[in-house]
Order: sequence, then C-alpha cells, then structure tokens
Amino acid sequence: MNFMSIEEAMKKGSGKVAIRGWVYRERGSNKFRFIVIRDSTNIIQCVIDSNNPSWNDAQKANIEASVEIEGEIKEDKRAPTGYEIHVEKLTLIGESDTYPITKDQGTEFLADNRHLWLRSRKITSIMKIRHTITGAIHKFFRERGYIEFDPPIFTPNACEGGSTLFEVKYFKEKVYLTQSWQLYAEAAIFALEKIYDISPTFRAEKSQTSRHLSEFWMAEMEAAWMKLPEVTEVAKDEIKFIVQEVMKRNKKELEILGRDIKRLEMAATKEYPTVTYSEVLKTLKEKDGLNVPFGKDLRTVEEEKFMSHFDTPVVVTNYPKAIMAFYKPEDPENPETALCFDMLAPEGYGEIVGGSQRSTSVEELKEGLEKEGEKPENYSWYLDLRKYGSVPHSGYGVGVERVVAWICGLDNIKDAIAFPRTMLRKTP
Ligand code: 4AD
Ligand code: MG
Repeated sequence: MNFMSIEEAMKKGSGKVAIRGWVYRERGSNKFRFIVIRDSTNIIQCVIDSNNPSWNDAQKANIEASVEIEGEIKEDKRAPTGYEIHVEKLTLIGESDTYPITKDQGTEFLADNRHLWLRSRKITSIMKIRHTITGAIHKFFRERGYIEFDPPIFTPNACEGGSTLFEVKYFKEKVYLTQSWQLYAEAAIFALEKIYDISPTFRAEKSQTSRHLSEFWMAEMEAAWMKLPEVTEVAKDEIKFIVQEVMKRNKKELEILGRDIKRLEMAATKEYPTVTYSEVLKTLKEKDGLNVPFGKDLRTVEEEKFMSHFDTPVVVTNYPKAIMAFYKPEDPENPETALCFDMLAPEGYGEIVGGSQRSTSVEELKEGLEKEGEKPENYSWYLDLRKYGSVPHSGYGVGVERVVAWICGLDNIKDAIAFPRTMLRKTP
C-alpha cells in the first residue's frame, strides 16, 4: 500500500489507509492500545487490539518510536483530531529510548534538548509559519521586479557600529561576520537597481532580552532612485503582505499556538500610520506622562507605551541624527534629524524593521565614520560608490525572527528560530 500523510488520510476520511510517523502519545490496557501518531502534517489516534498479530510491536511503540501503520480510517468525534484509524498492521521501524521531554518542563531544559523539542507541535507550527513568512518575502519582491542579491558574510567593515562585531580569524588576518548586507547592496543597486535578500546576520549582542539573538536572519531591500517617503510605503506593503499570507496559509498553526487572530487581522487590513520621532515624544508626554528629551533613543518601555495606542504596526521617521548610524543622512528640512525610519510592531513586540535613505555626501559619511571611531580609509570602496554616478537611494532590513515572534505571539524570540544563538546559548 502507498503511504499518505495524516492530513491526506483524514481528507480521505474512510476506508483503507497507510500512514507513517512517530508516537506522539500512547495509553491502553492489556486489551487495547490507543496510539496517537504524529507526522509533519498532523496527529491522528490509532487503536489496536490485543488479538492483532502486530500487538507485540504495538507494545514496544513508546513515545517517539517510529512506526508504519495500515488500517481503516473512520470519523470519531472523541478522537483528538476527529478521526481514528483501526490498526490492521503496525510495524515498528525505530524503537525509542525513554523520551526525556515530558509535560511541564522548564525553558532551559527544553532549550538543552532543542534537537528533540523541534518535534513539538509548538515549534513545528512556528517553523511552518516562518516558512510562509520567508516565502512571502521572496514573492513580494520578485513580483515587484526586485532581483535577489546575495552579500558576502565575511566582511572587513562594520555597518551598525563596532561594538557588536564578531571577529573571525581569516588565515593570518581577521575579518568580521556581517551585521547587515547593506554596504554591499549599495554597490549592487548601480547594476540591478532594485534588490532584496534574506540572509544570516550576526551581532555580538551583550543584552539578554527577549528580542535579541546573536545570529538572526535579516530580509533586506535596497533601491536606486528611492527616497524615504517611498521606501517606508514599501516596508508597510511588505509587512502587510506577510501577515495576509500567514492568515491565508497558517490558520491551523496559529490556532495550535493559541494566537489571537483578531489582533493580526488589524495588521492584515488597516493602514499603518507614519509619525516622526518628535511626534512620538509628544504623545509619550501628553498621553503617558513620560518625559523623553529629544536626542535619546527610545527604550523598550517607551516603545511599548507608545505602541499601546495602536493596533497595527507604526512607522517612525526622523530619529535624532546624532544617535544614528553613519550612513543615515541629515534631513535638510529638519537638520537635527536623519532621513531614517523604524517600524514598530503592536502588542509590545517593538522594532521589526530599520531603514533609511542613504547619505550620498562623502563628507557627511566620513564625518559619521570618524564619530563612530572608524577609519574612513577602510571604507574607501564604499565611498567610491558616491563618485561614479551617485543617485538617491534607500533601503531597510526586516528582522525575520522579530516578525515571526510577533505573528506567532511568542514570549521570546528564541522560539522564532530552530537553533537559537545568544550570548548564553550556542548549543545544541
Ligand atoms: O535596525 P537594524 O540594525 O538595521 C540595519 O542593520 C540596516 N543596515 C538595515 C538596512 O537598512 N538594510 O536591523 C534591522 C532589523 C531590526 O529592525 C530588527 O528587526 C532586526 O533587524 N534585528 C535583530 N533581530 C534579532 N536579534 C538582533 N540582535 C537584532 N538586531 C536587529
Ligand atoms: Mg534598528
């Protein structure tokens, strides 16, 4: 008989089926055993009685053992997913030792056993939603004529400041793991004009928060001729499209995760506002009684307070120039600020996107680099880009795990990636 997935078997709904998977739960007596089988698509209850020639194998099929099952499927309202298979033949493929993961275990234990915990319905659902999200990003950009461009991962330069660089021995010299594709993207737009990527990104984040990983994936875009007002709209359209795709394709997974769909629906349908940093300070003062002086970066508490007034993501532009990365240009209409933006997610998830128009002034760039303690001569190749037919251009980066964490409603970003890396965790 041909094997089918559990989902396909339930769709068939009656008659003979053959499935294979792992034991998810089991219980029984010396007359019957109920074995819930799990595969990548779903779970299903199977029942076998002691007269069955496979009874011996069935008794050895403990949690996470792998099995093949043939039998008759029937609707059964009492079964966990509404169907039950009456087993005719059960073959034990791989025995399982006593499975270390049982109910109610702590997060550190589950993190130590991440290689096994991946099989849980929770992490499986998150990984499927992540798959939809990255698929949506490719679809969004490709349908709009953007070309996928892959950056180097070993780099000689900092993009987002020297303090979070990971140093790597490179033969007899040293290089860094990339903090962002941006500087290379700025070179590539002169050939391709509109580009995007999804690639690994590294930051030696010393802060232990529920939002920071030391290895994460960033989905970035860069476009020639584009200025700040236009690029913020692209970011809104992209995030909205991602949410719509997940709502369309992952109803089941969102339900398993217990996600409040109503809150996501807002982000799939409503307009996202754009405000300036100065307007954020004004709102914080007037509505929340928080006094943040101009020039201070917004901390998590301030972002959270501000976002409590919104049910969709919000774009915040024009942060103070003085605290921005060297490549963010001064806004000529408001010189204390830069032509830059962040997108903040609702429900306390904070910054999910960071981007800007790019400075095209070699002088401004050199000054910015020196202020960051960098030697402009190390960036000569990047400064070159301003010398040969420079054009206005802009781009941004979406933190893939930040978006996964928000859409899935996770407590911690660590669950948004299969094998998280943080200051305190590099295994398994
Ligand atoms: O705001 P960031 O630092 O922007 C850049 O790196 C720009 N060079 C991107 C660009 O313009 N092409 O990072 C972009 C996004 C953040 O908004 C956040 O969502 C995510 O990347 N991010 C992190 N996610 C997880 N862990 C970390 N340590 C992160 N740091 C940034
Ligand atoms: Mg940022």
